[in-house]
Amino acid sequence: MAFATRHFVRAASSTAATAAAKKLIVKHVTVVGGGLMGAGIAQVAAASGHTVVLVDQSDEILKKSTKGIEESLKRVTKKKFADKPEAGAEFIEKTLKNLTTNTDAVAVVHSTDLVIEAIVENQEIKNELFKRLDKFAPEHTIFASNTSSLQITQLANSTTRQDRFGGLHFFNPVPMMKLVEVIKTPMTSQKTFESLMDFSKAVGKSPVSCKSCRSLDWRASAGAHL
Ligand code: NAI
Repeated sequence: MAFATRHFVRAASSTAATAAAKKLIVKHVTVVGGGLMGAGIAQVAAASGHTVVLVDQSDEILKKSTKGIEESLKRVTKKKFADKPEAGAEFIEKTLKNLTTNTDAVAVVHSTDLVIEAIVENQEIKNELFKRLDKFAPEHTIFASNTSSLQITQLANSTTRQDRFGGLHFFNPVPMMKLVEVIKTPMTSQKTFESLMDFSKAVGKSPVSCKSCRSLDWRASAGAHL
């Protein structure tokens, strides 16, 4: 191999290695909001080996979320392990072992790498949640919102970690839909963006990059970045 080529290959692989080293490998996830979307997100994250805490306002709601997840897992397993019911049962058991629930996000966020918010679609309530969690989450923790219509930039501005904030927009039903939009704001760091892309792939999805924009523009923005 010629010197210049060797030099180029080494430089390229060392740049790739540095970029990879900078990315956050998400292992522990807190999903806030155990409704339709949050339960689905918690399910796919737990099924792919992440440790997940699902948070909602009451134990009653969380019981319902867990029951929904169990039923959904049974449906997934019936298809995925049609010929191997024992492997299917093991898959469900492992997934549920990765999942716990809590009614206090502040109490669990101290050990999380990624917070995914999937609560009621209300700017003030989401801002209040992010502002509160920002005080208790570790420095490295990335915050993401699953919002369909609110601006990620405005949610990020309720925290002091705008560089570690992005959108993770899953689609319903989460266990079935492959697409995830990973939304960058002008403040989202490359490391955060790549970590969110990697997390989306790790949960078995096909992420596309989008810029934070007004709700009515989101399809055009997604198209521009596919
Ligand atoms: P949902 O109403 O089914 O669930 C919301 C959950 O959040 C409820 O269980 C509620 O008790 C909980 N919650 C509300 N405030 C809370 C707080 N302060 N702390 C903890 N939990 C709280 O709503 P859904 O449909 O799951 O939507 C959640 C988010 O996902 C919204 O931002 C929505 O725009 C977005 N989204 C919804 C889609 C859909 O098809 N429903 C698709 C993609 C995104």
